[in-house]
Amino acid sequence: MRIELSVNGELREADVWAGESLLTTLRDRLDLPGSKNACEQGECGSCSVLLDGELVCSCLVLSAQAVGHEVVTVEGLASDGELHLVQEAFADAGAVQCGFCTPGLVVAAADLLRRVPDPTDDEIREALSGNLCRCTGYQKILDAVHLAARR
Ligand code: FES
Ligand code: FES
Repeated sequence: MRIELSVNGELREADVWAGESLLTTLRDRLDLPGSKNACEQGECGSCSVLLDGELVCSCLVLSAQAVGHEVVTVEGLASDGELHLVQEAFADAGAVQCGFCTPGLVVAAADLLRRVPDPTDDEIREALSGNLCRCTGYQKILDAVHLAARR
């Protein structure tokens, strides 16, 4: 079926099947591969996007459910070719290794800093608890969020 989605401020059309996830539509039909598919079960957070400003796992949202709502992906955080502060801080703090978890963590961290501009370690850990990283041991990720907050 043909649907129209608002993604990163643009109306986009896509041909999807009824049970298709928003993650699949973003990656495979709308040429937005930033959101990653690691588990497809809501366990890892690598597919995190904002849906009407709420952090969601796009693998658990049907594309059809997103019709009429605003979707923001990691690609939508950068503006005018400038990295978002959180993206820059992840790079500067060395919080990226294989990078598979990074888009989801960046979206979740940006969402946290919008709500809590100067979070504590515990608040960061809580906010990012749905995002799994197999490489960094999380300390650099905490450092990156603090760095973004300071900036
Ligand atoms: S791919 Fe969606 S939570 Fe893992
Ligand atoms: S950097 Fe590899 S999973 Fe996080």
